[in-house]
Amino acid sequence: MFKVNNDYLKLPGSYLFSNIAKKVNAFAEANPDKKIIRLGIGDVTQPLCPAVIKALHSAVDEMGNAETFKGYAPDLGYSFLRDTIVEKVYKALGADIKADEVFISDGAKSDSGNIQEIFSSDAKIAVCDPVYPVYVDTNVMAGRTGTYDPATELWSDVIYMPCTAANGYAPELPTETPDVIYLCFPNNPTGATITKSQLQEWVDYANKVGAVIIYDAAYEAYISEPDVPHSIYECEGARTCAIEIRSFSKNAGFTGTRLGYTVIPKDIKDEEGNTLNALWARRHGTKFNGAPYIIQKAGEAVFSEEGQKETNEQIAYYMKNAKYILEGLKEAGYTVSGGVNAPYIWLKTPDNMTSWEFFDYLLENANVVGTPGSGFGPSGEGHFRLTAFGSYENTVEAIDRIKKL
Ligand code: MLT
Repeated sequence: MFKVNNDYLKLPGSYLFSNIAKKVNAFAEANPDKKIIRLGIGDVTQPLCPAVIKALHSAVDEMGNAETFKGYAPDLGYSFLRDTIVEKVYKALGADIKADEVFISDGAKSDSGNIQEIFSSDAKIAVCDPVYPVYVDTNVMAGRTGTYDPATELWSDVIYMPCTAANGYAPELPTETPDVIYLCFPNNPTGATITKSQLQEWVDYANKVGAVIIYDAAYEAYISEPDVPHSIYECEGARTCAIEIRSFSKNAGFTGTRLGYTVIPKDIKDEEGNTLNALWARRHGTKFNGAPYIIQKAGEAVFSEEGQKETNEQIAYYMKNAKYILEGLKEAGYTVSGGVNAPYIWLKTPDNMTSWEFFDYLLENANVVGTPGSGFGPSGEGHFRLTAFGSYENTVEAIDRIKKL
């Protein structure tokens, strides 16, 4: 008789957002008359911008024409998109990244989950706490995290870097040496950022101890303040230690369309000179047949003049929501952070409620859905995340309901 992958059985409960969806659906079924406002999962609500729609239509027409039809996409991505990313993202930041260091994929979630495959099975990982659950869950699936302690909700072989109000939600360098360090800034879930000199410290540290940083920059488009780095390659020495993961979901509304990319400089090498770039290319070749042509054309359109203008307007729209949430909650007496360089607002639950108690309280009394902070890790307990990705009208209504509680 076959045996299942035992590492999967170690995962406690279901994936955070599936769990929330189940609870919200049950509430909606039991209360069909209530208007539920969803500010839980970070899913966009604004339609794709006109420049992207135009590119999609024209790429669809190409696919229906024998002369321009495309079959399998190149597994690492079309040159037109890889070159555009180098030019418009990295050259614009003064970063030295080549097109063959950019790997196009179906999104940052897949990449941030799959990237662990190119490290040894005993690689020691370090994560922020709270953290986007994909990083830890996928390492659990790979059998790399040791045993789970339900009392502390921590894995024995993971290095946790608590991010709390006390340290401004910025992780401190670990005392135990990791092999792989996951960092996400602007941060999901806290909405916090670190300065360029703080990020430089991480790069210097990784180079010193021989670790690799996996830098999730999915929310970089939301940065509004100077001195907050948009890319880890703005730091000196990042080419020898940093992988960067980027998404089209949050900056251009591709959550349902799916497109992302990962940058792996060829200078990241292990002791024997093996490059992570070659390993990731090998993995793509074996497991991926390329993101669809139509979607990559849509991605290219995001970088056009029109596309930049239109997507910037969408970002401004969501950041207006963030401001409304931030100010509204402050007026209502909540302790809040984030929401300035990120579409996430992080609040302290009132009256010492646990994160899940507040989730239930808010759903039942204001019919508003958020995300319990403890779902992102034990240091998130007593906190709660709201997203700015709703419509403006719903955001205003949700905050006004919360204010009345
Ligand atoms: C979130 O709500 O944390 C994100 O939407 C999850 C994701 O991007 O996969």
